[in-house]
Amino acid sequence: GFSWTLPDHPKLPKGKPVAVVVLDGWGEANPDEYNCIHVAQTPVMDSLKNGAPEKWRLVKAHGMAVGLPSDDDMGNSEVGHNALGAGRIFAQGAKLVDQALASGKIYEGDGFNYIKESFENGTLHLIGLLSDGGVHSRLDQLQLLLKGASERGAKRIRVHILTDGRDVLDGSSVGFVETLENDLLQLREKGIDARIASGGGRMYVTMDRYENDWDVVKRGWDAQVLGDAPYKFQSALEAVKTLRAEPKANDQYLPPFVIVDDSGSAVGPVLDGDAVVTINFRADRMVMLAKALEYADFDKFDRVRVPKIRYAGMLQYDGELKLPSRYLVSPPEIERTSGEYLVKNGIRTFACSETVKFGHVTFFWNGNRSGYFDETKEEYVEIPSDSGITFNVAPKMKALQIAEKARDAILSGKFDQVRVNLPNGDMVGHTGDIEATVVACKAADEAVKIILDAVEQVGGIYLVTADHGNAEDMVKRNKSGKPLLDKSGGIQILTSHTLQPVPVAIGGPGLHPGVKFRTDIQTPGLANVAATVMNLHGFESPADYEPTLIEVADN
Ligand code: 3PG
Ligand code: CO
Repeated sequence: GFSWTLPDHPKLPKGKPVAVVVLDGWGEANPDEYNCIHVAQTPVMDSLKNGAPEKWRLVKAHGMAVGLPSDDDMGNSEVGHNALGAGRIFAQGAKLVDQALASGKIYEGDGFNYIKESFENGTLHLIGLLSDGGVHSRLDQLQLLLKGASERGAKRIRVHILTDGRDVLDGSSVGFVETLENDLLQLREKGIDARIASGGGRMYVTMDRYENDWDVVKRGWDAQVLGDAPYKFQSALEAVKTLRAEPKANDQYLPPFVIVDDSGSAVGPVLDGDAVVTINFRADRMVMLAKALEYADFDKFDRVRVPKIRYAGMLQYDGELKLPSRYLVSPPEIERTSGEYLVKNGIRTFACSETVKFGHVTFFWNGNRSGYFDETKEEYVEIPSDSGITFNVAPKMKALQIAEKARDAILSGKFDQVRVNLPNGDMVGHTGDIEATVVACKAADEAVKIILDAVEQVGGIYLVTADHGNAEDMVKRNKSGKPLLDKSGGIQILTSHTLQPVPVAIGGPGLHPGVKFRTDIQTPGLANVAATVMNLHGFESPADYEPTLIEVADN
């Protein structure tokens, strides 16, 4: 029968504290002026890279290695931390939605049948990120859903768009809106009243995460549900083009707008009897809106009017909270994560990051599960992030504070595993500000030093890795790797993640001297890290985990 008990590792001892450090958005790429990790002073990460070759290596952090539909999909924090924590590769939301749309199963499930009840007398609202980034949502999935829903009786459809510029190039919102408008026009020609009803930039409207700033969600609620926003336009294309023309405007931060008819009334507020689908498959930036849409006793902001709706998520975003209760596609069932195994085998665990990445080292790490497995053995510490700013203005973020918390946890002797996420490379990389990203990388490196020094003091072990690339490449390139220029001759800044591999480094005075990276695993990925960490704690990994990266030479 099944047992949570992990077998003892035949050669590696127990009882050494292990620090697991995840540098967010820290990939390996050619050293040039757009590689902020290369440009920044990062002596600690450099010394790991240039140290013993059997203690540093690269692993895949994108595409099929992390459960994404194809190897053209860049990595992201959700799938990266899922893989790191779960030790196996699960088909992720993007892929599960693709499959459900292709087979038509999406239209047969409880979720679709539930919202369908509104099609006769109500409006179907689709709310979500409009891009082909494939991190939170995908345009082609929205297009298929529009087609599928209209073929199955939806007569009145309103789309509430969030412009991207973070998983895709800034400025690409215009093209995505054109594509969507064209699809909606075709639906209208078939007699379906389908329009864009509202919009706004994802980082300013709706897509906050981990309750960093509820105002973001409120701005969305006002536009989408109440039909109220500071900007009113006759069309979404006009809205996006006009708002982008403001100085410093960018897709991520466009202000909220609503589309109004000739008499100035919003064309698509959410009303009693309507159906709402949040089309993002990824949880972290939809769960706050899901709460506002679903919870009767919601009190994070004044919703003013709470329409009686039928609401479904593209996926269920939180399996513990069962939120939302209705959904179109079942999420990946990521069970028996390394975190749960280790806690059940007595490993006292400390996890820490700042708000914007806190759920990454807890919720995502633990298979999209919030809360503790065993609160007597775990402590999760969240350091409040700055809110209401873009992180290029404070690129050091809370790296120092995270490192100090980790250091204290290591020195306290109360924990066997101390796990952190250092957000700088990613969060600042997403702003596209190269100078600030260089500062960010340096700050992350300094944080690593503090943690490794503490490991040194207690005779522990470290494993340093990353969840996906970002800061190592800040420019869009052609196939031969040359930077692409825009119309005015400037470089095209890459705000998104990359397809690059990420480092895994191990060491520390507690590491058995015979430990080295195996050479017999051809193309390992992030999912191989969990078994490795289990070994470092003195355990063998479960048989169905991706194999460990390390072996122990007898010497
Ligand atoms: C975001 O949500 O900020 C980006 O779309 C993806 O970044 P992350 O995967 O690093 O969180
Ligand atoms: Co990111």
